Amino acid sequence: MAIQGNSDFFSVGVDFVVVNVPIPYDLYINSSTHAVNDRFVRIFPQGGILALEEVMAFKAKYYQLYVLESQRDKYLKSLISLAHVPDEKKADVIKDSAIVYLSKVFDADKVFNTELLGEAISGCRESVESMVGVIKDYSIKQIQDLIGSLSFHDFYTYDHSINVSMYCISILKALKPKVDKEELASIGLAGILHDLGKIKIPTHILNNPGKLSEEEFDLIKKHPEYGKMLLLEKELKNVDVDIEVISRLVSEHHENYDGSGYPMKLAKEDIHLYARIAAIADVYDAVTTKRSYQGVLDTDEAINVLSRFSGKRFDPEIFDIFVKSLNKVVQKRFITRELPEDFDPSSPHENLPLQPVKARVIAPDIIKNEEKDFGKVSVQVKFSGLKKK
Ligand SMILES: [Fe+2]
Ligand SMILES: [Fe+2]
Repeated sequence: MAIQGNSDFFSVGVDFVVVNVPIPYDLYINSSTHAVNDRFVRIFPQGGILALEEVMAFKAKYYQLYVLESQRDKYLKSLISLAHVPDEKKADVIKDSAIVYLSKVFDADKVFNTELLGEAISGCRESVESMVGVIKDYSIKQIQDLIGSLSFHDFYTYDHSINVSMYCISILKALKPKVDKEELASIGLAGILHDLGKIKIPTHILNNPGKLSEEEFDLIKKHPEYGKMLLLEKELKNVDVDIEVISRLVSEHHENYDGSGYPMKLAKEDIHLYARIAAIADVYDAVTTKRSYQGVLDTDEAINVLSRFSGKRFDPEIFDIFVKSLNKVVQKRFITRELPEDFDPSSPHENLPLQPVKARVIAPDIIKNEEKDFGKVSVQVKFSGLKKK
């Protein structure tokens, strides 16, 4: 059977093909010698069993194997079962798949419609389920290392969505060690879609790293509501995921724990747990993941800088667990730079808008409490800088 055109296929590495068990997908080669005129021919059927020697022979004979797009989910599931493939390789393949689906809605050249959104959500769910299979036991520190080893695409559109999904999965796992895979996949899917509403914001505003006008920034701030609107459209109700929960994370990930966020000014537990988790994942990824420009923070400084948001922007209990899972301790005395209180990871930054820490007036009752907590040590430190009369 020969099929023309490559949009229905994706390429796979020969090393990622399962051996000695029934193969859950058909294998194709591209027999065309012209790059513009693909001709795919099936060389091995779904359900057949390949021995290692046969796979090695494929490797020697064919430059690349292909699988039907419609069998991508089967390919991903079999990939994560392969013990000899390192997790970074698996995660990279899964990330590529997620990007294929995300691009169905984020690609500016494509005309958006709800059918495409449904396809994107179903595809992202498959990718996220596979990702959970790889990272379900990862600490947040391991997730950060893994993110650093994955291939880089387009930070604001794809990398960031996938990174936030991975952080959300590992933060929920850190909070609830006995959580099941379905719940991890649910927060992962919500996380990957958290900035979905940005497809309704003009690209020239989204990609402008300079100072935005108030109107432009107000428009960016509409993305949580736009995302919710897109998800709750009637036609999407047949998509086999919990849209209600996903839309909570999408619409509430910019709410602040102290009620100062947007769009609803929700506070504390009125903000869905997933959204409180995503708020940390969103900002942490924005300040630590390398992009095409300079100015990201290392883990220590990121933790110290973000600790200022604990109890204000972030749920303090979740932030504490986040810090512990990174094997870090907040060291306030080393904080020399800070992010402005209204720092928003949604808007592009040429450089992180860090500023020297401003002196803050400490209320007398806070000083009293500090003395109570730290006893003599605190008193010695407090007076050590005073000149003797
Ligand atoms: Fe956002
Ligand atoms: Fe974001």
